[in-house]
Amino acid sequence: MPYEKLLIDNKAWAKEQKEKDPDYFNRLAHIQTPEFLWIGCSDSRVPADKITGTQPGEIFVHRNIANLVIHTDVNLLSVLDYAVNHLKINHVIVCGHYGCGGVKAAMSNHDYNYLLNMWLRNIKDVYSLHKDELNAVDDEEQRFDKLVELNVREQLMKLAKTSIIQRAWKHDKRPVLHGWVYSLKDGIIHNILDMQPGSAMDDIYEYDDL
Ligand code: CO
Repeated sequence: MPYEKLLIDNKAWAKEQKEKDPDYFNRLAHIQTPEFLWIGCSDSRVPADKITGTQPGEIFVHRNIANLVIHTDVNLLSVLDYAVNHLKINHVIVCGHYGCGGVKAAMSNHDYNYLLNMWLRNIKDVYSLHKDELNAVDDEEQRFDKLVELNVREQLMKLAKTSIIQRAWKHDKRPVLHGWVYSLKDGIIHNILDMQPGSAMDDIYEYDDL
């Protein structure tokens, strides 16, 4: 697709929006009050708003390869801090997807070079943590699906370990954390795990003076 088509389609879209609702852009330009923070995969087949039927203004989005929550990722932490403490969102969604290329790459023993190896190592750590459960699954496709689910679960736990989430849990009783997996085959999102404010975790991760 030539890139010019994107700009032409943009003009058509803007015109159509304005015809349907003359106040549309004026309204959106002045306020942003999303209910949800979406942490998803960069995969072009998993657009957060399209698959959830949400409109501009409804979801605050962060995407990276294989929807990872990494405690030294300044980008992710800034998004999380802004969403929780300034936008006051009530729900954080980590949405993985079956057939995730990042998860698949992490399952292999291939060298993807320094930078990607470093990123994918986080998924290898998830595999290692659950290797008994994973290695018990004979079918490779099913093992792949299982790792996608376990990865989402692990990233949700990592969110809960941040002081950003724990402080909001303690003082505001929000947000609820949701772990989802999207299926490319039928477009359906599966709910894997919810974590309510105040959910328990290993003692060592709990801050007692927030
Ligand atoms: Co992916």
